[in-house]
Amino acid sequence: MSEQSLAAFVKEKYFAKFRDEISSEKVRTFRSPGRINLIGEHTDYNNGFVLPASVDKAVYFVIAPREDDQVILFATDLDETYSFSLGDLSKPAASWPHYQISIVDQIHKKGLKIGGFQAAFGGNVPVGAGLSSSAALECCLLFALNEIYSLGLNRFGIVKMAQKAENEYVGVQCGIMDQFASAFGKQEAVIRLDCRSLEYEYFPFPMDEYLIVLCDTSVKHSLASSEYNTRRLECEKGISILQKYDASIQSLRDTTPEFVNQHREELGDVVYRRCKFITEEIRRVQDACDLLIQGNLPDFGKKMYETHYGLQDEYEVSCEELDFLVAETVENQAVIGARMMGGGFGGCTINLVKKEAVPAFEETMKAAYLEKYHIDLPCYKVKITDGTEEIILN
Ligand code: GLA
Repeated sequence: MSEQSLAAFVKEKYFAKFRDEISSEKVRTFRSPGRINLIGEHTDYNNGFVLPASVDKAVYFVIAPREDDQVILFATDLDETYSFSLGDLSKPAASWPHYQISIVDQIHKKGLKIGGFQAAFGGNVPVGAGLSSSAALECCLLFALNEIYSLGLNRFGIVKMAQKAENEYVGVQCGIMDQFASAFGKQEAVIRLDCRSLEYEYFPFPMDEYLIVLCDTSVKHSLASSEYNTRRLECEKGISILQKYDASIQSLRDTTPEFVNQHREELGDVVYRRCKFITEEIRRVQDACDLLIQGNLPDFGKKMYETHYGLQDEYEVSCEELDFLVAETVENQAVIGARMMGGGFGGCTINLVKKEAVPAFEETMKAAYLEKYHIDLPCYKVKITDGTEEIILN
């Protein structure tokens, strides 16, 4: 379904649900996309570089303000409704409203004022596939509330508040990449974000010869969020040790693989491998960007494989299914790069595949995955699109 028709679909559901309660001229529609990340994994919370882009899988909110302090949310995909008042942000048992409540929580904490609202949302970002459907939801709602209640936030403000919402209310200590990519995406461009200075630059990503194909393991191991938070702690442990030898080290961005290696013994096996991967990965993103500028996609692809092996063996956030999908591509001449994408423990691999070979690639991957795991492997060809925006429906 095209973006316009998806948005129109959510709008239709909205009116079917709330027909008698809302005057149609106040209803507005917003869109915020899911993201991919070409390279630079687990580097965002280590103040390093990332290279994400927002894609043509998005969340849509159809929303209108209310006169009272009630919030009524309608999840069109689940056909479920959840209501709460602005004065009671307690966590419901169902997890899907947590993301929306987390945004209201941040608005309160910032001392900003909103009234109630009535919203329906839906879209086509696969949940749990590592495309950051949660960041898309958060950015979309906050962008919408910023518009309808004139909160005066700029895009950076939206990104930072959405990240905090996830950290504080949802409880995942994520970095800034997902929310940033969703809000700042630009058609046909990847974004190199320096997560220390928050400076960013767009690079055109040529899609004439190769396409980006995601292969969705369709698994999300329960370790994902607890191990994510553990990785952050392990990196912090590394920093506290390295700092003793160089007080200027405030994050793993401020050091090098060589320095990490010098202190290998004191770091201990696990923390050493975490710090080694992160410092190498930060360097790899910079090298990969140089290759992109030179138009050397085949060598860029090799860096993606290096990232995967680091995530698999040193950072240990991959899983059997992801490793299997990457290993399946190694002998395939049509694939120049493949790796697990996002936080890990499930979700998608990202593959750079020769355009004309994409159908054969999908067929081979699906057959192999079916044989091994008895799962029909979803494959998504993604296009890079603009970030969070209001949509005017015809
Ligand atoms: C998740 C987090 C991001 C980032 C990635 C790993 O998607 O939300 O902040 O840390 O994992 O690169």
